[in-house]
Amino acid sequence: MNSLPPILIVDDEKNMRLSLHSIIADEGYAVKEVESAEAALALLGREPFFMVITDARLQGMSGYEFLGAARKRWPALPVLMITAYATPKLAVEAIQAGAIDYLAKPFAPEELLHAVARCAERHRLLAENQTLRAGASATYRLEQIIGDSPKMVELRQMIQTVAPTNATVLILGESGTGKELVAGALHNLSSRREKNYVRINCAAIPEALLESELFGHEKGSFTGALRQKNGRVEEAHHGTIFLDEIGDMSRPLQAKLLRFLEDGTFTRVGGNDELKVDVRLIAATNRDIIAAIRENQFREDLYHRLNVVQFRPPPLRERGRDVILLAEHFLKFFCFALNKPAKALSKPAEQKLLAHSWPGNVRELRNVIERAVILENAAQIHAASLPDFHLEAQLRKGGERAASAGGSLDDALANFERELIMAALERHGSSISPAAEELQMTRHALRYRMQRLNISAESAADDANETPDGKPN
Ligand SMILES: Nc1ncnc2c1ncn2[C@@H]1O[C@H](COP(=O)(O)OP(=O)(O)OP(=O)(O)O)[C@@H](O)[C@H]1O
Ligand SMILES: [Mg+2]
Repeated sequence: MNSLPPILIVDDEKNMRLSLHSIIADEGYAVKEVESAEAALALLGREPFFMVITDARLQGMSGYEFLGAARKRWPALPVLMITAYATPKLAVEAIQAGAIDYLAKPFAPEELLHAVARCAERHRLLAENQTLRAGASATYRLEQIIGDSPKMVELRQMIQTVAPTNATVLILGESGTGKELVAGALHNLSSRREKNYVRINCAAIPEALLESELFGHEKGSFTGALRQKNGRVEEAHHGTIFLDEIGDMSRPLQAKLLRFLEDGTFTRVGGNDELKVDVRLIAATNRDIIAAIRENQFREDLYHRLNVVQFRPPPLRERGRDVILLAEHFLKFFCFALNKPAKALSKPAEQKLLAHSWPGNVRELRNVIERAVILENAAQIHAASLPDFHLEAQLRKGGERAASAGGSLDDALANFERELIMAALERHGSSISPAAEELQMTRHALRYRMQRLNISAESAADDANETPDGKPN
């Protein structure tokens, strides 16, 4: 709760202010109070608050007028209105005027705290959403890395240990495992956090431009270099530079990066001056870096330079019940973002999530939950609102096998054909006739293809009841 700005209470009755204050402050929220709407508007102009609680009836400017003025200047600021008695008319007026909620006197402390907690949650999610949108300037926090599995607990501990050092870090892991989150948290927990965090995706920038992006260029150094440009490493001076997808960097640039890592010196493209900066480097890749070294695509010496500390966020399928924790986290987030009432996971949905192998890791889970929130209108996410993982896995398996056939199109096609025929046979209890019917071919044709594809006749029970022309009775 420490990261929340205070709540502002507006009430002209001293006793009411005191009781509101004590209820809210006891829960650990920071609170400030003023006696009038005018004073509240002045204070809101000077300091941040995450919500306002105001009485509807105030001396001078009324609570409703205050609400109107506040909405105009701070549209995102939630205002909770306290009305004298519960009449539906007053409630409607308060909500129509733009109050996020209203409470009728007398109210129970829990009602008040419940409304405050909702606004606090909203504030947190809004902030999270903003940082998601802001991308590079995101403020990553350790608590945002969700997971109680032993490997994730260890990962967070290691981040805390390594972050304050200047050690170069290499983050390896499958796509969607949270490499960017780790990199962001490392910067944010370091003494460099007040300085820039510069992120470069080496795979997204054309090879010819990456060097000038990283190290800058002098005017006229190449066609199109109309003026001198600073490198991003200069922007990251005293801060952190995150080289994402480093496995995709070209070998010549790898050499220049290696030199830069030795002592922080570099020259701009087309320049002669040796420049020097103080930068901490974090690199990540989802490629098999050892294989890349073996295939001569990645310099081994650079690998050792980068690999001072290695992080390996585990694949999601190795994190046990973290799948549910993460699903619940994304559920909350998307219900809020899509303006839907909060939902829970049904038991069968939980089972389905736990049984899946998550080749796309946390990113896949995030997308699955987003889709479910869009599809589901009930208070629970049912298993039917989740994708058919089984079917997807089969398709993928078929595709992989076909693709890994070793190059030739004929081989790939033969593999694919074999998969389809075997699957059809399996569906029909190894019976040739119905399988042939499903594949829209004669029994004879299917037999012929099975022979050609080396599918043993044992895979198929021979139906006795066949007619000589190959068609089933
Ligand atoms: N432990 C976690 N807790 C909460 N959110 C997570 C966690 N891990 C990953 N995410 C979320 O999953 C998504 C993918 O994570 P991220 O972009 O860091 O993956 P990545 O490893 O960089 O993937 P890629 O290799 O494809 O770039 C992001 O939206 C991220 O916020
Ligand atoms: Mg990434």
